[in-house]
Amino acid sequence: MAASKTSISSLFLLFFLLVGSSASLSRTHRAHHPCKTMIFYFHDIIYNGKNSKNATSAIVGAPAWGNLTILAGQNHFGNLVVFDDPITLDNNLHSTPVGRAQGFYIYDKKDIFTAWLGFSFVFNSTEHKGSINFAGADPLMNKTRDISVVGGTGDFFMARGVATLMTDAFEGEVYFRLRVDINLYECW
Ligand SMILES: *[C@@H]1O[C@H](CO)[C@@H](O)[C@H](O)[C@H]1NC(C)=O
Ligand SMILES: *[C@@H]1O[C@H](CO)[C@@H](O)[C@H](O)[C@H]1NC(C)=O
Ligand SMILES: *[C@@H]1O[C@H](CO)[C@@H](O)[C@H](O)[C@H]1NC(C)=O
Ligand SMILES: *[C@@H]1O[C@H](CO)[C@@H](O)[C@H](O)[C@H]1NC(C)=O
Repeated sequence: MAASKTSISSLFLLFFLLVGSSASLSRTHRAHHPCKTMIFYFHDIIYNGKNSKNATSAIVGAPAWGNLTILAGQNHFGNLVVFDDPITLDNNLHSTPVGRAQGFYIYDKKDIFTAWLGFSFVFNSTEHKGSINFAGADPLMNKTRDISVVGGTGDFFMARGVATLMTDAFEGEVYFRLRVDINLYECW
């Protein structure tokens, strides 16, 4: 009895070793070839005390030395902004939106402009249904920044990959537009 128990458990061990090595091989392989690539733009119009009709985002948190109308000094450190921004296929704010970018950003460094982003692209059109979820550090002053695609639902079920952000335009502290190049390395 003892002998057969040992051989069964070594069979299991062999099985897990094989499964483990084939899984890591395919991960390495996929890492170099995105299975899906998409480009979108989204438009953030920040409430500034005068544009409540037009604004798509609002400051909902500020450090003690700031307020909820104007982004704080010291590179906006401590501000938390919630957004519900239109997503378009080109860089025109007035193009028909294909979805909404919904989430928040937190300015999280005093010395330089940098933020942390957590948001979803939410689609409900004939073209796309479902969501893509993003998270990561956004050093705004860099021309390109990579954040993680941590998951997805619907048409983007189990999506994983990297999104490259580029600031395509900005107007003072009221409007900015981000170009988002999404590369998925896991598609179902
Ligand atoms: C908010 O702070 C800005 C400066 O950071 C100041 O100019 C403005 O008057 C303040 N607004 C309110 C409503 O306190
Ligand atoms: C998606 O759009 C359809 C048709 O306009 C609507 O009935 C449905 O409630 C929407 N779903 C969500 C999650 O917004
Ligand atoms: C941002 O740009 C700086 C200077 O070009 C570079 O050293 C740094 O690695 C970049 N950071 C990211 C996260 O891309
Ligand atoms: C809304 O905000 C955008 C970006 O600042 C601006 O281009 C546009 O003219 C504004 N629209 C209205 C109706 O104020």
